[in-house]
Amino acid sequence: MTPHNNAERSDIAKTVIMPGDPKRAKYIAENYLDNYTLVNDVRGILTYTGMYKGKHITVMASGMGMPSMAIYATELFKFYDVDKIIRVGTCGALKEGVKVNDLLLVKDAYTTSNFSHSLTGNLKNIEKSSLILNERIINSARILDLNIKEVRINTSDIFYREYIDKNIESENCSAVEMETFALLYIAKHFGKDATAILTVSDSLITGESLTSEQREKSLKNAITLALESL
Ligand code: HPA
Repeated sequence: MTPHNNAERSDIAKTVIMPGDPKRAKYIAENYLDNYTLVNDVRGILTYTGMYKGKHITVMASGMGMPSMAIYATELFKFYDVDKIIRVGTCGALKEGVKVNDLLLVKDAYTTSNFSHSLTGNLKNIEKSSLILNERIINSARILDLNIKEVRINTSDIFYREYIDKNIESENCSAVEMETFALLYIAKHFGKDATAILTVSDSLITGESLTSEQREKSLKNAITLALESL
């Protein structure tokens, strides 16, 4: 157990699916897992472990932003011996060609935050996701006939932004969200695998957005893809 997780080590599977929202974790457990149990609820970060097609899976919320993701991802890798984390989340489009409801696979994440320096003393602004997980996801997408684009995304500390940083444009980021860089950097730090499947929930270019109900529905493809790839 840790200050943020009251699950026993054996309660957590080697593979974890991480949505941002605790309600989404509950939704995934209730709709996709067999024989699931609630193994943690500290601070409302609902965590369930169950079976998906015979495989032991944990679904745990990350909360919002890199500091929150960093706490849970670190504890999962360091104290719970987790091997793989797939984030299933939403993002805002930063390019005209990226549309609401599109499914994105994060190839790498760029951030202007000093997250890496705060953690290790070394500043790194781009982190790659796991090639092994990405290959499996692309393969599953082909089998499921789902269209997924492999892209660079921007992980930001700001939701209510006043402008888009020139660096984010020049780094060719397709979309923005607030957690993935931390997940990928921490996974690399501990020698583990992580990636993210993101649904485009809004566009910073056109102003289009999904309602929270549509958001939940559009996550279905991302959830199926994450689970099938495991
Ligand atoms: N900004 C940051 N995170 C997000 C956004 C956004 O516009 N949309 C979904 N997650």
